[in-house]
Amino acid sequence: MKFKESVTYDDLLLVPQYSDIQSRSEVDITSFLGHHELTLPIMASPMDTVSELSMAQAMSEAGGMAVIHRYNTIEEQQSIAAQFFSNSGWKGTMAAAIGVTGDFLERTEALIAAGTNVICVDVAHGHHILVKKALEALRNEYGKDIYIIAGNVCTLEGINDVADWGANAVRCNIGGGSICSTRIVTGHGLPGLQTIFDCARTDREVKIIADGGIKTSGDIVKALAAGADFVMCGSLLAGTTESPGSVVAHPAGYPVKEYRGMASKDAQLNWRNKSSTPEGVATYISYKGSVKDILEDLEGGIKSGLSYTGARSLKELRHKAEWARQTSAGTQESQTHILSTPRTRSKK
Ligand code: XMP
Repeated sequence: MKFKESVTYDDLLLVPQYSDIQSRSEVDITSFLGHHELTLPIMASPMDTVSELSMAQAMSEAGGMAVIHRYNTIEEQQSIAAQFFSNSGWKGTMAAAIGVTGDFLERTEALIAAGTNVICVDVAHGHHILVKKALEALRNEYGKDIYIIAGNVCTLEGINDVADWGANAVRCNIGGGSICSTRIVTGHGLPGLQTIFDCARTDREVKIIADGGIKTSGDIVKALAAGADFVMCGSLLAGTTESPGSVVAHPAGYPVKEYRGMASKDAQLNWRNKSSTPEGVATYISYKGSVKDILEDLEGGIKSGLSYTGARSLKELRHKAEWARQTSAGTQESQTHILSTPRTRSKK
């Protein structure tokens, strides 16, 4: 039996290289989503504990983009889009998610009427006949007037097919997110960074979104170096002032906010009043304050990352990147690992 070797974020490091970059301001991390220019290549996940109006505004102000989740009525989702575009005159970018069955065409129509032109076909297994049918229906209805993100896939065949069916950008990674249990429940998936290496071999005109499992700015730099055009984050942006939901007190006393997988039992019961086998979990994460500070730190970390490779752009980063595999001892060394020492002084 032959099986493929596959790596993920903590298995590899980028090798530092000669750099003539003297300031982070020389580094440009702009990435294009059709004609939309994102100066920060980060997207917020279409999840009900991550992306509604406040997150969309903050992401757009920082140069990134949020994808408004679809676990609401058409009117609620349309109203968020209308407040972002129509009513505010804001020229930034925002996307909105739809499903592949039921009212997905009516939802799209309402979103477009409110000013949205980036639509995200949001399902767990994107290499699927229902996604093919939905993409064909959307292209049939709107031609090239809308920009379509679809997914999720984790193979070269998957990204190629989804691109051929009509997607302009594809979310890559199955079951790698912090709240995902798809790999445990179904036995399927592929480590996140390997997914990007594999999908980046595509010869189609398609953008790659590294979705889920991103824990740090270092992981973002690795995803971009492996061939992603954007990263999509849930847990990194959840638990903030701009994420939906309220701050509550954890039994241990500190402030937290809810963060949950959209296939968790909690989320299913909330949105469908019934649940099938969950493929995600619901949890609380520490309240982190404003997402603006988090995005600022991430941007600084990404730019610093490019300067370690000596790259002034994402294109240069991909071209120059050199990788080294870490052992488990190396992975441990890469974490902060200071030993705590007793602070008692001898009484003399
Ligand atoms: P992070 O690691 O950023 O991951 O928290 C966010 C991504 O996880 C995906 N997602 C799910 N995957 N079950 C899954 O297997 C779920 O319930 C679930 N909810 C979200 C999604 O791709 C998101 O962007």
